[in-house]
Amino acid sequence: MSRIKSVAHQRKVMSAEAAAALIAPGTTLGLSGFTGAGYPKAVPLALADRINREHALGRPFQVKVWTGASTGPELDGALAKADGIEFRLPYNSDPIAREKINRGEMEYFDMHLSQVAPVAWQGFLGPLDTAVVEVSGIREDGSLIPSSSVGNNKTWLDRAGQVILEVNRWQNPALEGMHDIYYGTALPPNRRPIPLIRSDDRIGEPGFRCDPDRIVAIIETDTADRNAPFTPPGDADIAIAGHLVEFFKHEVARGRLPPSLLPLQSGVGNTANAVLGGLGEGPFEGMTAFTEVIQDGMLDLLESGRLLAASATAFSLSPDAAHDLNTRMAEFHDRILLRPQEISNHPELIRRLGCIAMNGMIEADIFGSVNSTHIMGSRIQNGIGGSGDFARNAYISIFMAASTAKGGRISTIVPHASHTDHIPQDVQVIVTEQGLADLRGLSPKQRAALVIANCAHPDYRPVLADYYARARRESYGQQSPMLLTEALSWHERFVRTGTMMPA
Ligand code: COA
Repeated sequence: MSRIKSVAHQRKVMSAEAAAALIAPGTTLGLSGFTGAGYPKAVPLALADRINREHALGRPFQVKVWTGASTGPELDGALAKADGIEFRLPYNSDPIAREKINRGEMEYFDMHLSQVAPVAWQGFLGPLDTAVVEVSGIREDGSLIPSSSVGNNKTWLDRAGQVILEVNRWQNPALEGMHDIYYGTALPPNRRPIPLIRSDDRIGEPGFRCDPDRIVAIIETDTADRNAPFTPPGDADIAIAGHLVEFFKHEVARGRLPPSLLPLQSGVGNTANAVLGGLGEGPFEGMTAFTEVIQDGMLDLLESGRLLAASATAFSLSPDAAHDLNTRMAEFHDRILLRPQEISNHPELIRRLGCIAMNGMIEADIFGSVNSTHIMGSRIQNGIGGSGDFARNAYISIFMAASTAKGGRISTIVPHASHTDHIPQDVQVIVTEQGLADLRGLSPKQRAALVIANCAHPDYRPVLADYYARARRESYGQQSPMLLTEALSWHERFVRTGTMMPA
């Protein structure tokens, strides 16, 4: 049965190929999608085919791609493979697109996810030509039932010159009513406070408004979201989770956190997912989440009853968990809220609610600068995503990673971060499987001593201690002691020899 309940909308149904033909070369697309959830699955593939045909005829064809965050292989993968993306924002984790970016063949603007919608409204990004948005249905009154992610869809639907919709029957009908689309944002000087007091408050509408005159095509699909599976938690992940649970217990005992903790934010990646599993085994009850994505671990916490409710902008589930959720969506209906990412990641709300931010990192330096994005200073891994939105504004901002990567050839605790996404002022706790460094209220020298002692791997600890001891003696200044000629020598050594460990 069709999910399109409005007769006027039914008349606009066409093939993905016919819809892709409405997209002109050089234009900007605002696409739905956040992690592997809720991205359009038919039009981008048809567009990639069209781009391939044009390229075969020697005709250039590329588009600019804006999304919520990462998407799936049918979108980023297919368009990047066709050499069809000229410019991409705000986050990518697709391996083909990543390779193009790192080869210098695609421009990529990696930005705070909360800022995409406001910046689009401010006009700094130029015009948005076409929105291509997956929804799970169209009501009789023409309002759109969102899909498994909300992301920037409201903004794309409001701003685009023309709108193409994919109505995906695979999405569970029980999604209806789980969304909270807030229409109260404005640009300065007309901004007003966002009336959200508790993380699970409803402040908006259950669907998107969309002017039917701007809808030029509707495609019906029946295709699963495609998320990457999580790897099972390893020893390092389990140890990190254990350190964090001990830390939270200690904070509760000291009266600095309530027994139900504060609204949790948990980032993308395997370690962050594993930590949620660890929290499920801790003593905390009545927890809530004000976060960006709902991963497998968050769903398990909801199921166990320890997490009462979760507010996010998207699901980010492994294929097994997505399938499982799809069969039981109604059970979670009243405990999960999906919001636009400018609300799920809103700095003012994060600060006011007092979120506990827990994000993965590539590396941290001894003073607590964190690199979330770049390998060896210049190769992008994914992007900053929402980590900056949460880290700067959180009640406690935590970054975590195993103390080594690539089989021990890389230390994730380094003398100087090869790229900085989060400055020491935004990083309060660093955790590796070796231990936890609570950096709150410490000076740079006090931080360095703790990070080296608690977080570095034993193989690298003496080398790091030696570097720091010499920096204490020879540095130009003693506020943040540093040896200018050696600060990045670990990275340089890895690029040259394949290991950060000195011979
Ligand atoms: N140097 C080089 N490579 C490193 C590294 C380092 N210091 N640390 C990790 N890596 C590599 C890993 O080896 C792995 O490579 P592979 O894919 O070739 O196996 C890859 O980076 C991912 O690392 P992994 O250990 O699997 O970590 P993860 O899945 O927990 O992800 C981040 C870690 C930092 C990549 C991820 O958290 C991220 O993209 N963060 C930025 C966005 C963010 O925080 N969003 C959340 C906001 S809500």
